[in-house]
Amino acid sequence: MLVLGVESSCDETGIALVDTELGLLAHALHSQVAMHAAYGGVVPELASRDHIRRAVPLLQQTLKDSGRTLAQIDAIAYTQGPGLAGALLVGASFACGLGLALDKPMLGIHHLEGHLLSPLLASKPPAFPFVALLVSGGHTQLMRVDGVGRYTLLGETLDDAAGEAFDKSAKLLGLGYPGGPEISRMAEFGDPGVYKLPRPMLHSKDLNFSFSGLKTAVLTLVKNKITNICEQDKANVARAFVDAMVEVLAAKCMAALRDTGLKRLVIAGGVGANVQLREALNAAAAKRRFGVFYPELEFCTDNGAMIAFAAALRLKENPDAAKRDYAFNVLPRWPLDTLRAA
Ligand code: KG4
Ligand code: ZN
Repeated sequence: MLVLGVESSCDETGIALVDTELGLLAHALHSQVAMHAAYGGVVPELASRDHIRRAVPLLQQTLKDSGRTLAQIDAIAYTQGPGLAGALLVGASFACGLGLALDKPMLGIHHLEGHLLSPLLASKPPAFPFVALLVSGGHTQLMRVDGVGRYTLLGETLDDAAGEAFDKSAKLLGLGYPGGPEISRMAEFGDPGVYKLPRPMLHSKDLNFSFSGLKTAVLTLVKNKITNICEQDKANVARAFVDAMVEVLAAKCMAALRDTGLKRLVIAGGVGANVQLREALNAAAAKRRFGVFYPELEFCTDNGAMIAFAAALRLKENPDAAKRDYAFNVLPRWPLDTLRAA
């Protein structure tokens, strides 16, 4: 089956074609980062309008790169939620309009399911079951994954998401948007131990997280401890932030593996691109003998491939999961553990 995927939940427009037997055939992506950078964060109305402009050219690009035609598509999948309501509506109406015109069945996909299954697109995919750490701009969750649509929430953030803490702390340090890659790069030049930031909920004995205090600690440091913050000081604070963040994320992953007795850990979402996190988890995996799996770097942040791929996995299990139903609704808030198997 040939599955078209459409992603538009936030500030990336992504289109992809996945064949249920051959895998990913082609994908095209437009990031709005440069457009939103001037505002220091995503402006929802601008995001929606840009998705409208990008959808058709990206679809044409994907078809061209894959050598397939619209007529060959068997099903159309789109991100139904969670995300920005306006941005989701653009992708859903584009996908459903296309489906109606072409008489193809539709499938709404959960954005986080896309992230969660994206490491399965890699050359060495993990087998089920596994523990997944989902770390993006909007979510920080630990899940037990027993199969497609079989997700159990183990823990989540009580306030800010990890990516959000990266972005907000970067802003406090006067770094660019998005803040994750900027702080990560800056931290490489920082001296460890110059500043010590709190490790929120490190000893909480559950698998929940809290990152708003960490961001506030950065604020306090920037305001009180440093007059005329110089580049080296910024790098030292970035180092302290990354060290605190990585220690908490890694410790909770270890606790989740211990509690579930599982031996495979999957990292997904934008913060999964973070080199310091990957280094810490790779070292722990070698020491404690568990497997750690990441999506390819290009599939860590939002993209259409993960949406088409999640739909393809669902359709493989149940070809009737897609329906000729074009009356779409989007779900800006949609808990992942309410999903069911296909
Ligand atoms: O998954 P994603 O593209 O979008 C959401 O679904 O939220 O994640 C975006 C988040 C942003 O907060 C960004 O700062 C963070 O991922 N991010 C990183 C890195 N690359 C992206 N955080 C830390 N280190 C990185 N290298
Ligand atoms: Zn995402």
